[in-house]
This record gives sequence, structure tokens and C-alpha cells, in this order.
Amino acid sequence: MLNKVISFQMRKAEDWFGPDIVLQADEAVLIDSLGINGNHYILFVGAGNNHMPLVSCAIRGAKVDVVQPEFGYFGSQTGQLEHWIENEKKMMIVSLGEDLIKGRINVRKHVGTIETFKPNLKLYSHVFLLNVLDSNEGSDNFYQICDSVFSHLKPNSQIIVSAISDYAINIAEKISNYAKKLKIDNRMERVFIFKDLHSVYSINIRMG
Ligand SMILES: C[S@@+](CC[C@H](N)C(=O)[O-])C[C@H]1O[C@@H](n2cnc3c(N)ncnc32)[C@H](O)[C@@H]1O
Repeated sequence: MLNKVISFQMRKAEDWFGPDIVLQADEAVLIDSLGINGNHYILFVGAGNNHMPLVSCAIRGAKVDVVQPEFGYFGSQTGQLEHWIENEKKMMIVSLGEDLIKGRINVRKHVGTIETFKPNLKLYSHVFLLNVLDSNEGSDNFYQICDSVFSHLKPNSQIIVSAISDYAINIAEKISNYAKKLKIDNRMERVFIFKDLHSVYSINIRMG
């Protein structure tokens, strides 16, 4: 069934964007390559209105929470996320006869910044920061965001970071070095390259 869903996502992404611009399909491949499954509990910080990676995690059985401010560049981003996830659910029911998201995505876990998301219960196996830290790099917020992210991670977890162009390496190194400074053992690696060449890094946190 999962293979059926993955090819469904790829086909749909191509229908929407054409075969040359397959960013959404790439995101489904990224999630697949990370081995996300039903044992994982995932936090998306700043998902924007981009539902695809969330849906990709949920159909693999993972539980997904979103933390972000209500409003983004294009109005209510949480509202738009809910709309697109509902849309995806309907398309799955029509195409596959089943809703595989099964209510596993909570787009309103905390409507606000990650710095204000409490309590810090160390629940999450993965925290995604896809194109979120570009605008915070260089500000004090950067380290406050890192502190908060660390406090939500369970032992042996992963922070997944992307940024436009190869800038992601600077951001990932900065997170990794800051974690080391706080004596959080970690290893950084490049895990994925999108077709538009922006890279994704993982900071693998070894201890809680
Ligand atoms: C450029 S958008 C990226 C959206 C999406 N992740 C993507 O890759 O298409 C940046 C997102 O980060 C969110 N954001 C920025 N600072 C944040 C913070 N401190 N805590 C939570 N979300 C934040 C914004 O509201 C926005 O949704």
C-alpha cells in the first residue's frame, strides 16, 4: 500500500508542477530516504503552507505536530495547511479508497514561535526546520530557537535542516557547533540534495 501511496504522491506532484519542477515529489523522496515510520513522533517548525512533507510522514504512520505563527507571507498559513491536508485526504479516498493520513497531523499543536512552545517534554524523534533558519541566522533568535529545539528532542534524535542553496551547510554547522558547546553529542551529515540543488542536512543528536 505504501508504494502505491508514494507513486500517487509523485504522479500528483508532476500533474501540478510538470515533470521539470518536482520539488514536492522531491520532498516525498526526502521523507522516504529518512526512513520515517510509525515509531516516530515528528515536529515541523515553520511548516508554512507546505503540506507535502507532513503528509509524507503521516502516511508512513508517524505522528506529526506543527509549531508556527498563524500568519505567514500569504495569510493564514495554518488555515492553508488544514485546507491542503483535507484536500489530500479527499484525493486519497477517491484514488486509493482510503485516507492514510488518519488524523495523525496536528497543525495547531502550538500556534506561535518555537521559542514559546512549552512544556519541553523531550518527545520528538525528529524536528524539521525546512527553510526556517535562513531569516533567523545572524540574530539572537537563532540560538533561542536552537535551545528550544534541543529541549524537545528525545535521545538519539535528528534535526533536519534545509535552506535555499548550499547555505544550509553554514546553518547546520552552526547548530552542530552550538550543541557541542552545550555538551550535546552530535554528528552532522548531508542527507539529501533537491533537484533545484538546495541541500538538506541532518544533525544526529546522540544523547538527550
Ligand atoms: C520561508 S517559510 C518556509 C516554509 C516551509 N517550511 C517550506 O520550506 O516551504 C519560513 C517559515 O518559518 C516560520 N517561522 C519563522 N520563525 C519561526 C519561529 N521562531 N518559530 C516557528 N516558526 C517560525 C514562518 O512563519 C514560516 O512559516
